[in-house]
Amino acid sequence: MFNVPKRYISVKALYETVPKTEKQLDVINGWVRSVRLLKKVAFIDLYDGSTNRDVKVVIKEPEESDVVKSLKTGQCLTIHSPILKLTNGSRTQAFELLVENPTKNLQVLGHVTEHYPLQKKGHSLEFLRTLPTLKYRTLYYGSLLRFRSHMEEYFINFFNKQENMLKVSPPIFTVNDCEGAGEQFLVNSPVLQDKETFLTVSTQLHLEILSTAVSNCWTLSPCFRAEKSATPRHLMEFWMLEAELSFITSLDELISFTKRFLQSIVTQCYENQDSLLTDQIPTLINKPEILLKWEMLRDLDNWKTISYTEAIKILTEQHKKQPFPRYEPQWGEPLQTEHEKWLAGSHFKSPVFVTDYPKDCKAFYMKLNDDKNTVACFDLLVPEMGEIIGGSLREDNYNTLQYEMQRRNMNKDGELDWYLEMRQQGGAPHGGFGLGFERFISYLLGVSNIKDTIPFPRSANSSISL
Ligand code: 4AD
Ligand code: MG
Repeated sequence: MFNVPKRYISVKALYETVPKTEKQLDVINGWVRSVRLLKKVAFIDLYDGSTNRDVKVVIKEPEESDVVKSLKTGQCLTIHSPILKLTNGSRTQAFELLVENPTKNLQVLGHVTEHYPLQKKGHSLEFLRTLPTLKYRTLYYGSLLRFRSHMEEYFINFFNKQENMLKVSPPIFTVNDCEGAGEQFLVNSPVLQDKETFLTVSTQLHLEILSTAVSNCWTLSPCFRAEKSATPRHLMEFWMLEAELSFITSLDELISFTKRFLQSIVTQCYENQDSLLTDQIPTLINKPEILLKWEMLRDLDNWKTISYTEAIKILTEQHKKQPFPRYEPQWGEPLQTEHEKWLAGSHFKSPVFVTDYPKDCKAFYMKLNDDKNTVACFDLLVPEMGEIIGGSLREDNYNTLQYEMQRRNMNKDGELDWYLEMRQQGGAPHGGFGLGFERFISYLLGVSNIKDTIPFPRSANSSISL
């Protein structure tokens, strides 16, 4: 066994602080992405995950070292005293690491078997998905992990730093079905005292309570839905970003806020494009295409808004010209995914906010409009994906809310009395939205299957093996 030195330089730090002249480094650790063994020299592409870039390692006198002769993709290495050499003119990398005396300076920390399945050549995503313990080591899945992490940072920058909003931590166990869609997972344990406890489908109701204490707040937390549909846009366990704003009285205010939020996140992505995007895997991450999309999204004028009623009109016209394969658009019915994708993808060719849906298409808590038929809500639809955000003003009138709950046969055992009574205890007009984190990542990076955007996806019809 070798001792892993306490201080080593990460590949990211190497790239950030390339010295002007040749320099001997202390230690570098990482995994072999690929290796090429020649008579007089060996080359390794080494990565350590601190960045989406590999570093080229050049080893002199490879035949002298048994370790070098048996180097394999996937091995974990530690390299002592490499010399950082500038490689003027090289397009991809301004430097490489030279290892002299490999017997002394190169050590294997973790070996691989002959069956190590990841090789340099591009594997199909279908194949990689069968390797849940290894696939994150690939450039693609590694980039997705890093993107996710950076996005969380951008959320904090926007909500906490720019908007002075508090990040709160609502619970996962709950007795309420926020969305009323009956898609909850039941929690089963003899220690639970409530007769029915569920995993939350949305933390909104708890956020509403907290917003009466701290005003504007937000969270990013796991949500669970027993979705039967195994589609590229549904997970059983996903992360939802939810924001709740106090003192807003119009949907326009909520939509403007949502646009500002999206613009801020996309701008931060754009500004950090070098660390977020790689051009090493163009078929999976098409950098120029993604940058064009981000440029388009930074301009608020490119976010359209129409009412549900207008949307149905446009869809009906289209249906007459060329029927939608599965569903005829009809006022009073929810928009189907095929409608959403066509509206955003083919018709507007941009994200579109659709507002004021019929009340029976939406959840009980949404604020009733003056027409008494529609509610003050929006869905944000985007090309390829359909809905990625749902938001609304919340009904703040006690009687209207009580009536609506009765009409829906809800609150029979008074389990939502607390929610109603909040309207009598200094409630403020308020509203908010929920963004599906994985759908957002899929859209921003052009990932066609949402399962690739979350580590260890849990979705209908796929078993949980680890
Ligand atoms: O539209 P939804 O159901 O809205 C709510 O839950 C509100 N309570 C949010 C709020 O106002 N605070 O869900 C919000 C978003 C959807 O637009 C979608 O992006 C995502 O959550 N989502 C899913 N993502 C992946 N897999 C699923 N099964 C999802 N269900 C919803
Ligand atoms: Mg929705």
